[in-house]
Amino acid sequence: MKSLKATLAKKIEEHRPRTTKLLKEHGDVKLGEVTIAQAIGGARGVRCLVTDVSYLDPFEGIRFRGKTIPETFEALPKVPGREYPFVEGFFYFLMTGDVPTMEQTLEVAAEFKKRRDLPQYVIDILRAMPRDTHPMTMFSAGILAMQRESKFVKRYNEGMNKMEYWEPMFEDVLDLLPKLPTLAAYIYRMKYKADVHIPGDPKLDMGGNFAHMMGIPEPYDDVARMYFILHSDHESGNVSAHTTHLVASALSDAYYSLSAGINGLAGPLHGLANQEVLSWTMKFMDSLGDQEPTEEVIKKALWDTLNSGQVIPGYGHAVLRKTDPRYASQREFCLKNLPDYPLFKVISMIYKVAPGVLQEQGKAKNPWPNVDAQSGVIQWYYGLTEWDFYTVLFGIGRAIGVLTNIVWDRALGYPLERPKSLTTAMLEEAAAKK
Ligand SMILES: CC(C)(COP(=O)(O)OP(=O)(O)OC[C@H]1O[C@@H](n2cnc3c(N)ncnc32)[C@H](O)[C@@H]1OP(=O)(O)O)[C@@H](O)C(=O)NCCC(=O)NCCS
Repeated sequence: MKSLKATLAKKIEEHRPRTTKLLKEHGDVKLGEVTIAQAIGGARGVRCLVTDVSYLDPFEGIRFRGKTIPETFEALPKVPGREYPFVEGFFYFLMTGDVPTMEQTLEVAAEFKKRRDLPQYVIDILRAMPRDTHPMTMFSAGILAMQRESKFVKRYNEGMNKMEYWEPMFEDVLDLLPKLPTLAAYIYRMKYKADVHIPGDPKLDMGGNFAHMMGIPEPYDDVARMYFILHSDHESGNVSAHTTHLVASALSDAYYSLSAGINGLAGPLHGLANQEVLSWTMKFMDSLGDQEPTEEVIKKALWDTLNSGQVIPGYGHAVLRKTDPRYASQREFCLKNLPDYPLFKVISMIYKVAPGVLQEQGKAKNPWPNVDAQSGVIQWYYGLTEWDFYTVLFGIGRAIGVLTNIVWDRALGYPLERPKSLTTAMLEEAAAKK
C-alpha cells in the first residue's frame, strides 16, 4: 500500500496551495446567484460544492477524474482473463487521479484482502435483527456498528494536527471499503439463501470474491466489477454523496458518514429506484397474463402510473438531460450478453416508449433513462431476483466514490458545512422588492 499512500500524499501536497490560493486571493469571485426557486427547490443547480473526483455534465454524463466511462474501462488494468478492470485499481485511480500500473493495482488488492473480514459482533447484530428487515437497513447498521474501529476517532482523541486528518481517515476507508462486499454477501445469504454462507476465496479480487461469496458463477464477477465502478460516483451533490460529505464535515468518521449516506441512497427517488424499476416491470408483466408485451400496452401502463400520481422509476434526473451513459454502458453489456432475454426486451421497449410519454406529459425536465432503469435486468438474468437487495449493490459501488471524497475533504481542510436558511416571509419580502 506504500505506493497508493505515497502518491496520495504527494497529490495532496501539490493540491493544497491551489485551494489556499483560491480562498485567500479569489474568495469573493461569484459562481452564480441563488433564486427563490432554488431555495425552495432543493438547491438544484446552486454551485456550492467542490470535488475533483468526478464531474457530471448534463449532456455528456459522468467523467471519473476526467475520463468517460468507456475511457475508464479501457485505461484500467483488467483482471487476467476477464473483461472488466479491478475495482481496486479503480479505487487507486479515483483517489489519486493516476491510472495505476498492474503492480500498484495488485498492491491495493492485496491490502483489501487483509482487511475484508467482518468482526463477529457485526454478524451477531445482523442476526439479531428481524429477518424481514430491509437489506439496506442491515447494510447501514452493519457499517455503523463498526464505528468503534475508527482510527480517526482514536487519533483525534489523542490530539491530532489538522494537517494529518486525512491519514487516519484514509486508514478508516481502507478498513471499511473491503468489508462492504463481505457484509453485503452475508446479508444476502442470511436473508435469501437459507442462511448458508460461502467463505471468501483469498485468490480473488474484490469483484470476483463478491460473486463467489454470493454464490453466482462467472460472468457475474465481471457484472460486479462493472456495477461497482459505474455506481461509484456522480459528483458530490446527489443525496448519498452530499450526505456523506455533510456528515464528515462535522469531523464524524468514515463509518458514521457512510452509514448516513447509505440511508439517503435507500430513498426511492435515489438508489432505491433500481428496485422500483424491477418491481414496476414485474407487476406490469404479471398484469399481462398470457398477453405479449407490446409498445402500446407499455405506453398505457406508463400513463396509468403517471395518472395515479406516481413517478416512472428509472427515468428523469436532477442534473442529466440525456440518456445516462451508465444506462448506455449496461445496455451495451446486455446487448452483448443477453440480447434475446425477454425481460431485457421489455426494458428496451420501455426505453423506446417512456421518454415520449414523459415528454407528452410535459413535467419531467429529463425524460431519458438513468442508471437504475437498466441495472436490475442484469441482476435478474444472473439469478439475483431478490430486488430489494439491488440498492445494497449500488451502495457498495457508491462507497468507493464518497469515501474517496471524504479523504480529500480532510486533506484540503474543507470546513463544517452550514448553508444559511431564510423564512418564507423573507422570501416574500425579497419577491415584493423585485
Ligand atoms: C430523479 C428525480 C427525483 C429528479 O427529480 P427533479 O430534479 O425534481 O426532476 P424534474 O425537475 O424533472 O421534476 C419536474 C417534475 O417532473 C416530475 N418527474 C420527474 N421525473 C419523473 C418521472 N420519472 N416520472 C414522473 N414524473 C417525473 C417530477 O416529479 C416533478 O413533478 P412536480 O412538478 O409535480 O413535482 C425524478 O426524475 C424522479 O423522481 N425519477 C424517478 C425516480 C428515479 O428514477 N430516481 C433515480 C434517479 S438516479
